[in-house]
Amino acid sequence: MVNLGSIDKIPLGQGICFIVEGKEIAIFRPRDGGLFAVQNKCPHRQGSLAEGVCDQNIVICPYHAHKFNLHTGMGSEGDEKIKVYQIKEEKGEILIEV
Ligand code: FES
Repeated sequence: MVNLGSIDKIPLGQGICFIVEGKEIAIFRPRDGGLFAVQNKCPHRQGSLAEGVCDQNIVICPYHAHKFNLHTGMGSEGDEKIKVYQIKEEKGEILIEV
Protein backbone atom coordinates (compact mmCIF):
# COMPACT_ATOMS: atom_id res chain seq x y z
CA MET A 1 0.00 0.00 0.00
CA VAL A 2 1.09 3.59 -0.62
CA ASN A 3 1.04 6.07 2.28
CA LEU A 4 -0.36 9.44 1.18
CA GLY A 5 0.15 11.14 4.53
CA SER A 6 -2.23 12.77 6.95
CA ILE A 7 -5.97 12.42 6.43
CA ASP A 8 -6.26 16.06 7.51
CA LYS A 9 -5.19 17.05 3.98
CA ILE A 10 -8.76 16.28 2.92
CA PRO A 11 -11.38 18.59 4.46
CA LEU A 12 -14.48 16.78 5.67
CA GLY A 13 -17.14 16.57 2.96
CA GLN A 14 -14.67 17.14 0.12
CA GLY A 15 -12.42 15.34 -2.32
CA ILE A 16 -8.86 15.90 -3.46
CA CYS A 17 -7.04 14.59 -6.52
CA PHE A 18 -3.76 12.79 -5.82
CA ILE A 19 -1.30 11.46 -8.39
CA VAL A 20 -0.33 7.99 -7.21
CA GLU A 21 2.12 6.01 -9.32
CA GLY A 22 1.12 8.06 -12.34
CA LYS A 23 -2.63 7.62 -11.83
CA GLU A 24 -5.03 10.47 -11.06
CA ILE A 25 -7.08 9.33 -8.08
CA ALA A 26 -9.88 11.25 -6.38
CA ILE A 27 -10.07 10.65 -2.65
CA PHE A 28 -13.21 11.62 -0.76
CA ARG A 29 -13.95 12.02 2.91
CA PRO A 30 -17.75 12.26 3.24
CA ARG A 31 -19.16 14.13 6.22
CA ASP A 32 -20.97 11.05 7.45
CA GLY A 33 -17.78 9.03 7.62
CA GLY A 34 -15.66 6.76 5.48
CA LEU A 35 -12.87 7.25 3.01
CA PHE A 36 -13.17 6.48 -0.70
CA ALA A 37 -10.82 6.44 -3.67
CA VAL A 38 -11.85 6.34 -7.33
CA GLN A 39 -10.38 7.28 -10.71
CA ASN A 40 -10.44 11.08 -11.01
CA LYS A 41 -11.50 11.37 -14.65
CA CYS A 42 -15.21 11.04 -15.34
CA PRO A 43 -15.84 8.48 -18.10
CA HIS A 44 -18.36 10.84 -19.75
CA ARG A 45 -16.15 13.80 -20.82
CA GLN A 46 -13.20 13.65 -18.45
CA GLY A 47 -14.54 15.95 -15.73
CA SER A 48 -12.49 16.00 -12.53
CA LEU A 49 -14.57 14.03 -10.04
CA ALA A 50 -12.47 15.35 -7.14
CA GLU A 51 -14.12 18.73 -7.78
CA GLY A 52 -17.59 17.21 -7.59
CA VAL A 53 -19.96 17.15 -4.65
CA CYS A 54 -19.81 14.05 -2.50
CA ASP A 55 -22.80 13.10 -0.44
CA GLN A 56 -22.86 9.88 1.54
CA ASN A 57 -21.56 7.27 -0.90
CA ILE A 58 -22.18 9.19 -4.13
CA VAL A 59 -20.07 11.69 -6.07
CA ILE A 60 -21.73 14.03 -8.56
CA CYS A 61 -19.56 15.04 -11.53
CA PRO A 62 -19.14 18.85 -11.68
CA TYR A 63 -19.52 18.92 -15.49
CA HIS A 64 -22.87 17.28 -16.33
CA ALA A 65 -23.99 15.87 -12.97
CA HIS A 66 -23.66 12.16 -13.70
CA LYS A 67 -23.56 10.33 -10.37
CA PHE A 68 -21.19 7.55 -9.33
CA ASN A 69 -21.38 5.18 -6.39
CA LEU A 70 -18.14 5.41 -4.41
CA HIS A 71 -18.43 1.79 -3.20
CA THR A 72 -19.09 0.11 -6.55
CA GLY A 73 -18.07 2.71 -9.15
CA MET A 74 -21.43 2.26 -10.91
CA GLY A 75 -22.70 5.35 -12.73
CA SER A 76 -26.20 6.74 -13.02
CA GLU A 77 -26.12 6.88 -16.83
CA GLY A 78 -26.04 3.84 -19.06
CA ASP A 79 -23.16 1.50 -18.34
CA GLU A 80 -20.71 4.15 -17.14
CA LYS A 81 -18.44 2.87 -14.40
CA ILE A 82 -15.36 4.21 -12.64
CA LYS A 83 -12.49 2.32 -11.03
CA VAL A 84 -12.61 2.01 -7.25
CA TYR A 85 -9.38 1.65 -5.24
CA GLN A 86 -8.90 0.01 -1.85
CA ILE A 87 -8.18 2.63 0.76
CA LYS A 88 -8.05 2.90 4.54
CA GLU A 89 -7.06 5.20 7.35
CA GLU A 90 -4.51 3.98 9.85
CA LYS A 91 -3.22 6.14 12.71
CA GLY A 92 -4.49 9.25 10.92
CA GLU A 93 -2.74 8.44 7.64
CA ILE A 94 -4.18 7.51 4.26
CA LEU A 95 -3.14 4.13 2.86
CA ILE A 96 -4.14 3.22 -0.69
CA GLU A 97 -3.63 0.19 -2.90
CA VAL A 98 -3.00 1.07 -6.55
S1 FES B 1 -17.84 14.88 -17.74
FE1 FES B 1 -18.71 14.00 -15.99
S2 FES B 1 -20.82 14.03 -16.40
FE2 FES B 1 -19.95 14.82 -18.21
